[in-house]
Amino acid sequence: MTDRIPLAGVIGSPVAHSKSPALHGHWLKRYGIAGYYIPMDVSRDDLRDALATLPRMGFVGLNVTIPHKEAVLGLADLVSDRAALIGAANTLIFRADGKVHADNTDGVGFTDNLRQGAPGWDPAAGPAAVLGAGGAARAVVSALAEQGVREIRLSNRTRARAEALRAEFGPKIVVYDWVQAGNMIEGAATVVNTTSLGMVGKPEFRVPLDGLSPDAVVTDIVYAPLETALLKEARARGCVTVDGLGMLLHQAAPGFERWFGLRPEVDAAARAVVLGE
Ligand code: ATR
Repeated sequence: MTDRIPLAGVIGSPVAHSKSPALHGHWLKRYGIAGYYIPMDVSRDDLRDALATLPRMGFVGLNVTIPHKEAVLGLADLVSDRAALIGAANTLIFRADGKVHADNTDGVGFTDNLRQGAPGWDPAAGPAAVLGAGGAARAVVSALAEQGVREIRLSNRTRARAEALRAEFGPKIVVYDWVQAGNMIEGAATVVNTTSLGMVGKPEFRVPLDGLSPDAVVTDIVYAPLETALLKEARARGCVTVDGLGMLLHQAAPGFERWFGLRPEVDAAARAVVLGE
């Protein structure tokens, strides 16, 4: 067993678009680790069998993507607190004792990206304004709450989803109407877009930024394009901005460390690989 080449991979459907194989492949090569990271298209019907079989075939863990991020929670033996809080897992660790451990590194990927991209970022400096209330917002909100942000302003086109997050995460969340999303940006120390607005092929990002303070740190989870309209305008207003590609890279690093025993560096080379440069 110990002589086995460690295998990891990403399961989802579809997985062809995933950037993870290129990124983990880059890190394996860079650190001279004799391992492999493989994309696997797994249907909902095959998910249970995959999780039972892959650990016996030399897999040390997996990333999980759409549509399995929620379903794996019910199939894992152990679920981390942060995965339970977010309600989804993106990382599985197949432990030596045979147990499957489900974790979610999206929130830590979000905060590690902000800390790297905006070194002076102080989560407690003031309210955070979060646009969107989907899956990505859950990870962002839980990470901000964990970092000690006292007021998290939340606005979503479908208000009920924002209200649902408030019911779950408590009174530190203040819900704003989507038509007034611009208002919550006033006085915010951290501004985050978790919607798909501004992404290639999606509608434009049009939330008014008049109230945006030049002291705010602004980030977007959209990374195609890297320079979104939100980030461009925020920078023009003097804000420090952090693009969303870093979150993708930083959420991958803890999994790589758990599977292959070494914390990989999130640097320009890793960014270039994911950008296909
Ligand atoms: P993810 O897991 O990436 O967050 P998601 O759960 O589908 O994906 O959420 C997408 C987010 O983008 C949601 O906040 C969504 O708003 P709704 O909850 O109202 O759907 C938001 N979004 C997508 N298209 C939008 C649009 N045209 N205008 C405003 N918000 C939009």
